[in-house]
Amino acid sequence: MKPLNIGLIGYGFMGRTHTNGYKRANDFFPELEYRPVLKAVCGRNAQKVQEFADQWQYESIETDWKALIKRDDIDAIDICTPNNSHAEIAIAAAEAGKMILCEKPLALNPEEGERMCAAVEKAGVANTVWYNYRRVPAVTMAKQLIDEGVLGKIYHYRANFLQDWTISEDLPQGGAALWRLDAAAAGSGVTGDLLAHCIDTALWLNGSITDVSAMTETFIKERVHQDTGEKQAVTIDDACSFMCHFDNGSLGLFESTRYARGHKALYTLEINGADASIRWDLHDLHRLEFFSNADEGRLRGWRSIHVSDHSGDQPYMDKWWVPGLQIGYEHTFVHQVADFLKSLQEGKPCNPTFRDALETQEVCEAVLSSAKERAWKNV
Ligand SMILES: NC(=O)c1ccc[n+]([C@@H]2O[C@H](COP(=O)([O-])OP(=O)(O)OC[C@H]3O[C@@H](n4cnc5c(N)ncnc54)[C@H](O)[C@@H]3O)[C@@H](O)[C@H]2O)c1
Repeated sequence: MKPLNIGLIGYGFMGRTHTNGYKRANDFFPELEYRPVLKAVCGRNAQKVQEFADQWQYESIETDWKALIKRDDIDAIDICTPNNSHAEIAIAAAEAGKMILCEKPLALNPEEGERMCAAVEKAGVANTVWYNYRRVPAVTMAKQLIDEGVLGKIYHYRANFLQDWTISEDLPQGGAALWRLDAAAAGSGVTGDLLAHCIDTALWLNGSITDVSAMTETFIKERVHQDTGEKQAVTIDDACSFMCHFDNGSLGLFESTRYARGHKALYTLEINGADASIRWDLHDLHRLEFFSNADEGRLRGWRSIHVSDHSGDQPYMDKWWVPGLQIGYEHTFVHQVADFLKSLQEGKPCNPTFRDALETQEVCEAVLSSAKERAWKNV
């Protein structure tokens, strides 16, 4: 077993999901040659980072990510910090020869993303971006069906990512907890936070997007900023909808908002092909709905496939329990760790690489610029 010493930066929501992935991957994927070692976790508050290290069993802590990157006993840097720090950390880590697993979106904008790609490619270090929804077994199975041509020619791709947690005008922006509402830290609002997931999955399942026409809205124009205590203009997009053309001739429709009362994290996608359609919903993530035009007679209709049965080659499920028992959200991160370790073993890239994630960043940029200028934009 080859150790892979992990240095994690940021121990919030994603720090926990990734750490769980590192701890579980080898238990369920016994064929892996590499084993992640929780070598160090980095955060700015020594007491809090030590508490996290104790809870999750990291061997050591750092309070400055630059010190972490300098350490000889770290092989891979995992970036779980707000979006405005991804580029600086990733470029420094690449220059130090570290492998990098970076949270999404890759960067604040394509220019930063391009510099990150150049840095990892020049250094020749393994890299991946945590667009984890690719590794929901039902979504992976959708990819297999599309690649096998089961859907036939694809006409429509539709995706939504709906939430409702920012409706209150009293919610402040910025600071440690609400950096997502501050464009300086997040880059954008729902476009980079939520639609980036939908776009990554779409590019993977349905190929490149050529041009977009978008609208965005900021419903609450001012919020108290937690750093200054003052009311300041809100500069993120609270909602974004766009339509697009795909390279394969199909039409795309995407919508995301944090103002859809009742929805907490409703990511849905539907793809309509000439021969079949598929539909997926994050709230019921182990199911893939499928309609085939080849089905005959009175019983023709949408099937709801419970993706839990490895006897039918359903992806990843041979690693888990018995047919009929589903897995959940956290497993997507276990799968990404396992796929990253496997890619090292095989000397292949682990998708999405920084370069793959840059394409998503370019679509996000075209969407934001189209909304701003009220015009179609090429990607
Ligand atoms: N893949 C997904 O589904 C998914 C889900 C949520 C968030 N994300 C992404 O993960 C990243 C982190 O989001 P989160 O929800 O975990 O945020 P969070 O606010 O829960 O955690 C961020 C962490 O970064 C730390 N941090 C901030 N600046 C730092 C610095 N300079 N040095 C060291 N630590 C620093 C904070 O203290 C905190 O521990 C973001 O890029 C976000 O877009 C991805």
